[in-house]
Amino acid sequence: MRGQPRPVYLNGEWCDTETARVSVFDRGYLFGDGVYEVIPAFAGRLFGLDEHMARLSRSLEAIGMAEPLGRDEWQAIFDRLLAGIDAPDAAIYLQVTRGAPAKRDHAWPGNDVPAGVMATVSPIGSIAGGARVITCPDARWARCDIKSINLLPNTMARQQAAEQGCDEAVLVRDGLVMEGAATNLFAVIGGRLVTAPTGPRLLAGITRGLLLDLVHREQLIEAEESFITVSALREADEVFLTSSTKDLWPVVEIDGEPVGSGAHAGRAGPITRRLDHHFQALKHPQRSSQ
Ligand code: PDD
Repeated sequence: MRGQPRPVYLNGEWCDTETARVSVFDRGYLFGDGVYEVIPAFAGRLFGLDEHMARLSRSLEAIGMAEPLGRDEWQAIFDRLLAGIDAPDAAIYLQVTRGAPAKRDHAWPGNDVPAGVMATVSPIGSIAGGARVITCPDARWARCDIKSINLLPNTMARQQAAEQGCDEAVLVRDGLVMEGAATNLFAVIGGRLVTAPTGPRLLAGITRGLLLDLVHREQLIEAEESFITVSALREADEVFLTSSTKDLWPVVEIDGEPVGSGAHAGRAGPITRRLDHHFQALKHPQRSSQ
């Protein structure tokens, strides 16, 4: 089910999700040669826009691509996309590929080949209940900080989770927890909030960064950026995932075992709920100031 057609910006033209067509030579399609962003809008207002655009610039630079559009041009596209969707909360998906030269060749085309630029929008649905996750080996490459459209290992891990009736796969490298297939991971261990440090082995999630800033600014809990072993993860008091479309998503089960102990075993823990409360206020400043 594809639902109602939604607007699509594609290489300078406007079309919709039914009519948009890309070239078979687009290097995104042939090689996964491109980068992307997912930018949420809550109550019609883009959230973390500067951070998402800064990460897009970093990703483009890392793969040797120039900025295809200026910030005002992106903004005009986002405004038109958001005007074209009837949903309180929506996610803009944008991707930039290394264009569609006439010949398939691994080496990059010259600068005369324009980048492929696509942006569309979809509703963000609400999440029901906590996440059940599996742990699995991280089969990705050595530059997971680039938000590359190459997501085959991520999709394989997520599929493995889905086949086990779970929501997310937690990727483990050398016994250390990196992140989820499409989320960052936080744990509460001994009263401290712990998440993996950014670097080439994981994506610097915008939600992760905004949450850490909030935690420091409002002194909500001691926070530490260090790698967590899988055994420490299993012993953690609370675990949650973060992403632009899922906010803070409590993890209730890891490899079939409940997270936490006592009254909160297998349920969202009190610190997760408190942090989420503060995060919701950050998302909806107009509500909290009323
Ligand atoms: N995924 N880690 C990975 C591997 C991700 O793909 C994502 C986001 C995150 C969280 O990042 P952020 O807080 O900036 O959304 C972490 C997006 C939502 C996706 O691919 O749909």
